[in-house]
Amino acid sequence: MAPAQAHGVPLAADSGAAPAAHDGIAVEVNGERFVHAGDPQMPLLWYLRDVLWLTGTKYGGAHGGNGADLVLVNGKPVSAITQPMAKLDGKRITTVEGLAAIDGTLHPLQQAFIDEDAIGCGYCTPGWLIAGCELLQRKPQPTDADIDQLPNTCRCGCQTRVRAAIKRAAAGKAGQA
Ligand code: FES
Repeated sequence: MAPAQAHGVPLAADSGAAPAAHDGIAVEVNGERFVHAGDPQMPLLWYLRDVLWLTGTKYGGAHGGNGADLVLVNGKPVSAITQPMAKLDGKRITTVEGLAAIDGTLHPLQQAFIDEDAIGCGYCTPGWLIAGCELLQRKPQPTDADIDQLPNTCRCGCQTRVRAAIKRAAAGKAGQA
C-alpha cells in the first residue's frame, strides 16, 4: 500500500519543527503540510482539485490567464494550471478555502463580495478573492486602475461590483450596512 501522504493526506500535526526528510514534493496548503509522491509534472491545479479535493480554485484554460485558477504561492498570485508540482517543493500555498479564519469567519474581502452582491455564477469569484487579497496586502487603498490591472475576468459582468467590493474591504466596511 502506498504511503498515506502520497495521496494528499496531511503529515503529522505541525509541531513547528523542521520538516523531516521525505520522498516526494513537500508543500504547505492552507497551513497543512502534504507530500506529493505522484507525477512531479502534475499541475498544481489538479493536485489541489483532484488529490486534496480543494475545488474552489477553477480551471481557466490550459494557460491560465483569466484569473480563475489563481492561488497564492509564498504570498504571490500564480496560475495553478501553469505550475508543475516539481516547482513547488517547500512552497506555501493558499487557496480560496484558506482565506476564512479557522472559526469560519469570512475574510473581509469575502464578506465585502457578499455585501456588494459581487457574485454572479461564482466561477470567477475564488480567483478574484485571491487576487484581491494580494492586492490589498500590497496596496491597502487600491485605485480603480489598480483593480482593473488584475488579470481576472468575469463573464457574468460583475467587474463593477467586484471593484466596489474590493474598495469596501479596503475601507474596512465589510459587514456594515
Ligand atoms: S460571476 Fe460568473 S464568471 Fe464571474
